[in-house]
Amino acid sequence: MADGPANDAGHRLIDDVDFGDDVVVYSFTNLYGCRIGDRTRIGPFVEIQRGAVVGADCKIQSHTFICDGVTIEDEVFIGHGVLFINDKHPRATNDHGQLQDTDDWELLPTLVERGAALGSGAVILGGVRIGAGALVGAGAVVTRDVAAGEVVAGSPASKIRPPAARDN
Ligand SMILES: CC(C)(COP(=O)(O)OP(=O)(O)OC[C@H]1O[C@@H](n2cnc3c(N)ncnc32)[C@H](O)[C@@H]1OP(=O)(O)O)[C@@H](O)C(=O)NCCC(=O)NCCS
Repeated sequence: MADGPANDAGHRLIDDVDFGDDVVVYSFTNLYGCRIGDRTRIGPFVEIQRGAVVGADCKIQSHTFICDGVTIEDEVFIGHGVLFINDKHPRATNDHGQLQDTDDWELLPTLVERGAALGSGAVILGGVRIGAGALVGAGAVVTRDVAAGEVVAGSPASKIRPPAARDN
């Protein structure tokens, strides 16, 4: 466990983060209450919320949002502007007209398994599991589990035929 990121960069908001060794964090990031594993790189304009866990040797590209309830295993690539979702039926206020707090909504956990890659602009609905080594296409909206090694794209994301099948 390290005291902080391995590099210097300005304009970072870092609060109560468990850093592994040699983590690199670029500028304009907002990281709080999360865990980040060894050697992982966090690009600029990334926000990682309290409760999120990012493994070792991951690459998190710029402008990505990782919310509470998301667990990312080791060696995962997260493209630019990837959005995770943990509240499937969001409302600003509860039945009494007061702003919602954590008791008023259900957090849906998401797991991204080892070696998976999420293309830029992908949106990951809460409560899904993205299997080891899977590849999610740019701009995909993932609404269901993705099997290990599968390549998915589109909205809602569905399996893309493997290259050999396309020649027929
Ligand atoms: C999904 C992806 C892996 C597919 O790559 P591929 O296997 O080489 O597939 P192809 O480019 O041959 O496309 C196969 C089919 O899927 C479609 N397709 C490819 N990528 C798509 C995407 N992101 N969304 C929707 N459809 C897509 C193609 O139009 C093509 O359709 P067709 O068979 O009707 O002609 C790739 O296009 C992709 O989105 N990679 C993510 C890249 C990224 O975001 N990198 C981040 C850092 S820069």
